[in-house]
Amino acid sequence: MSSEKNNYINPHLRFKDQVPEGTTGWQSPSNIALIKYWGKRAVQLPMNPSVSFTLSKSATRTTVHYKPAAKKESTIAFYFEGERNLTFEQKTIAFFKNLHSVFPFLSQMDFEIRSENSFPHSAGIASSASGMSALAMALCDLERTFFGTLDTDEAFLQKASYIARLGSGSACRSVYGGVALWGKTDRLQDSSDEFAVPVPKIHPLFRHYRDYILIVDPHKKKVSSRAGHELMKTNPFAPARFKQANQNLAILLKALETGDTDTFTDITELEALTLHAMMMTSQPSYMLMKPATVSIIEKIRDFRNRTGIPVAFTLDAGPNIHMLFPEENEESIKEFIRTELSAYVTPDSVIADRVGNGPQKTE
Ligand code: PMV
Repeated sequence: MSSEKNNYINPHLRFKDQVPEGTTGWQSPSNIALIKYWGKRAVQLPMNPSVSFTLSKSATRTTVHYKPAAKKESTIAFYFEGERNLTFEQKTIAFFKNLHSVFPFLSQMDFEIRSENSFPHSAGIASSASGMSALAMALCDLERTFFGTLDTDEAFLQKASYIARLGSGSACRSVYGGVALWGKTDRLQDSSDEFAVPVPKIHPLFRHYRDYILIVDPHKKKVSSRAGHELMKTNPFAPARFKQANQNLAILLKALETGDTDTFTDITELEALTLHAMMMTSQPSYMLMKPATVSIIEKIRDFRNRTGIPVAFTLDAGPNIHMLFPEENEESIKEFIRTELSAYVTPDSVIADRVGNGPQKTE
């Protein structure tokens, strides 16, 4: 396996004269993995390639106000949903410190960062993918504005994806709209372990796919993703899992290209359950699904068998269900949720999302 090349160290990205003052803002979406990344090595390098839908509504909006550093040591103040958040602040300080050889100008500035999520605070939805990709887009924007580099979309997005990955692995996929792939595979040219790339050949049906997120349990999960990845190092099934992910990836890419919803459903559900099987077979073992998660899975499979509507479920590292289905089935799915899932979710605990177009500049 290749080790990190890191083409991005650039000592020239420093202000020689006046350090500017101003604001940049970016909104970036979350993403939902179809082929799951679970297990990593070195600094956020994946053990297998992963593929995701970039979402639309579930997004983080981040504004970065910058000015010349008042003291020798640059400072960061981080506000989340209007309030100073010291946990995020410490994480961002550590993240920026790690980026000093990539963006030397960071040490010349003081920052005030304001971030908010479009989804409810208590939804139990991980915001690291949307948050880290929004911040990565903003930093690359500063580089492009002040140093004239990253002047093609491809160069800009690739670097933003690389930076987002250093913050949170799966965040690197949120930089692209539609479908993104992260991790080296012979199935897609120019794929890399260091950044994600867009998947170009996608059937229109999947470009408009819906993702209804059912919030089964909004509480913070007991075991972090970081700890979960770590446990893959000793999971006896890990080598078979990494092999299977590569096989599933090849099958899924074909289904995404041809519009084959049956194969899409088979592989997507297998990946979700395998992710959770890895948690259950880690040592120590743990379980993030709740009884309601399992009940809803059974209801979705029953509904699909009965109606022929190709609705699939997937899961993140948590108990919440993502229902993935074609745009044309939206009304039937709403009715299904209303009539058959009301024991598990209220209308307030459903986020009606869809495949989206990727990050946007807001300021
Ligand atoms: O990016 P991390 O370290 O939070 O890991 C996320 C892993 C999953 O969400 C479970 C799967 C994925 O590929 O997004």
